[in-house]
Amino acid sequence: VLQYGLPDDALKRQIAELMARRGVSCTEDQVFLTTGSQQAMDLASRLLVDPGDCVLLEQSIYDGIRMAVKARQPRVLPVATDPDEGIDLEDLEARLAGVERASFLYAMSEGHNPLGSSLAEDRKRGLVEIARRHELPIVEDDVYGLLGLDGDSPPPMRALDERWVLYLGSFSKILAPSMRVGWLVVPEDLIEPLTALKHSSDVDTSTFGQQVIARYLEQGRLPAHLDRLRAEYGRRRDAMLEALEKHFSGKARWTRPRAGIFVWLELPEGTDTTRLLEAALDEGVAFCPGEAFASMDPAPLRRSMRLSYAGSSPERIAEGVERLARVVAGNVKVAV
Ligand SMILES: Cc1ncc(COP(=O)(O)O)c(C=O)c1O
Repeated sequence: VLQYGLPDDALKRQIAELMARRGVSCTEDQVFLTTGSQQAMDLASRLLVDPGDCVLLEQSIYDGIRMAVKARQPRVLPVATDPDEGIDLEDLEARLAGVERASFLYAMSEGHNPLGSSLAEDRKRGLVEIARRHELPIVEDDVYGLLGLDGDSPPPMRALDERWVLYLGSFSKILAPSMRVGWLVVPEDLIEPLTALKHSSDVDTSTFGQQVIARYLEQGRLPAHLDRLRAEYGRRRDAMLEALEKHFSGKARWTRPRAGIFVWLELPEGTDTTRLLEAALDEGVAFCPGEAFASMDPAPLRRSMRLSYAGSSPERIAEGVERLARVVAGNVKVAV
């Protein structure tokens, strides 16, 4: 356990079983273990992107992917995204029409970070159809997919296509981020190049972390843990939505997550949430300003913020939203 080691077969088997729970059929030979899903993003970028290539990122996007691709010096093509509905397929087609080739599209089908939304079935199908037609890899980040809050999440895009969708999962959001164990599900012919790239960056995924998680999964303990986690996050989500309804109704727009841990709150035009943050912290309430999630132009995201309900009790969430409403009312010209 304390030595270098090959990727743990028992863990890969367990992950293939977990994928079946997500409605994805794959073999353990298609599972590639990574040091968290952040490394999976880095490896996918190194595998797929050459300097100057085009990468498609939604306008509002998890900052970790932006950082991962940045090292490859790509041309980022921002794709319009609706906070509720997700990636705009027409805009994606228009972006693709303007370039010879794009290296990949990064997408989240469940519990989007930062938007909190999930893709409808027809949008997932539409994206996969575009990917096939343009031979465009989709890097699908599904780290919140097992955190369905209204029952099991529908299957990710990887369930629809195993050639063009490179799937990325993690134990960070369902078990323990400190273990630093994530995974990719990819076509078998990509395992060898990924192995070479990974070796140059960290040799192995922590042998210790792999074995701890493999034993935990073998003991069959994950399902009960996930049930508890999802029930608790569900209560926290409900508390946040209820408080938003009470304090922001008619004055702001927000998303209603069915998976994950985030709500995206859009305030009236002209609001600058980065400037609001200081006043909010003085009131003891924190959020992430929208512009932190811009793939390119931060201006349209300045009026928005990402709220997380993961870390506080329903009572504290209710109190936090009430305080936030006070801060907004005192600092935004349009009365809230
Ligand atoms: C959408 C998303 N993807 C990936 C990660 C990275 O997680 P890890 O590297 O711990 O698996 C995070 C962490 O916040 C995330 O929110």
